[in-house]
Amino acid sequence: MDFFLDTGIISEIEQAAKWGFVDGVTTNPSLIAQTGRSQKDVITDICKIIDGPISAEVISTEREAMIKEGAALAELHDNVVIKLPLTEDGISACKWFSDNDIRTNVTLCFSANQALLAAKNGATYISPFLGRLDDVGQDGMQLIHEIRAIYDNYGFTTQVLAASIRHSIHVKDCALAGADVATMPLKVMKQLFKHPLTDIGLNQFLADHAKSNK
Ligand code: E4P
Repeated sequence: MDFFLDTGIISEIEQAAKWGFVDGVTTNPSLIAQTGRSQKDVITDICKIIDGPISAEVISTEREAMIKEGAALAELHDNVVIKLPLTEDGISACKWFSDNDIRTNVTLCFSANQALLAAKNGATYISPFLGRLDDVGQDGMQLIHEIRAIYDNYGFTTQVLAASIRHSIHVKDCALAGADVATMPLKVMKQLFKHPLTDIGLNQFLADHAKSNK
């Protein structure tokens, strides 16, 4: 299972990169806006830190403009993956990128049928937003299970990239569901380390060691 960091903030990416298990980064227009910098500058800097798939999302909403914008983003670095919204134009542009050997991440997926369309057009990744489904009273994790089963039924190679992850239980449940990737904010990645018994146990070991050395 790959772990991606879901942020455009360079200091967060530098911090997580030191842990050694970050496989890639996802961004979206909201995350880029939070940085106050241009997407081009942010993506270029991320590519210097993480040697893995870096998702950069198009702003255009029409197929031809998406293709032009995405092709320019792909020129920034070999690791750039073009993120496209799950619309008629986005799915159509996805096919163009697949046919031209440019990797894609189809985003804003909220149903298994949407995921099926992305797979049929050769998307590299599909991003089901499980937290946003939970927010509206639907079961986000159920969607991950459904997409996994459908892709396995037909041997689709599109990777299930669980997105909109809000806490560490989401990460564990995505792993149990067989998601290929989980993208998460730094806060959630930090939660993965934590267990109170680890802290209590370490404090006890250090205290006993200090006593024995007196
Ligand atoms: C993933 O690609 C998205 O950028 C992200 O996971 C959305 O998360 P949110 O619902 O917390 O904004």
